[in-house]
Amino acid sequence: MTEPTTRIIGFLCNWCSYAGADMAGMSRMRQPAGVRIIRVPCSGRVDPLLVLRAFQEGADGVLVSGCHPGDCHYGSGNYFARRRLELLKRMLPALGINPERFHYTRVSATEGARWAEVVSAITERVKNANDND
Ligand code: FES
Repeated sequence: MTEPTTRIIGFLCNWCSYAGADMAGMSRMRQPAGVRIIRVPCSGRVDPLLVLRAFQEGADGVLVSGCHPGDCHYGSGNYFARRRLELLKRMLPALGINPERFHYTRVSATEGARWAEVVSAITERVKNANDND
């Protein structure tokens, strides 16, 4: 019997993280199969309610990934995202969601290998969080 796939919704900014994930794919790097990517213009556009909606719809984990500090194409969207999403992460236990199921990270367009590593590590953490709940 095969192990169930850990379903992760990834909101990736178009300019850095999406390109990094694309590079990992084109380079045929090994990645978990359960990650579904939603391309957004900027991580600053990810409303925390979208994250909660993903959990409500059955995601095992949610990942938001944007540009590194100073690289956001809209100036400061990644700074807004970090503040907003850190608050969300702190609120998740009050909503009955293990905060280990939610991650915010940064991956640039040239970091395909980093994307593959990050997404593999996060998938493992989400899997462990779900096993322990
Ligand atoms: Fe990538 Fe803003 S454009 S985080």
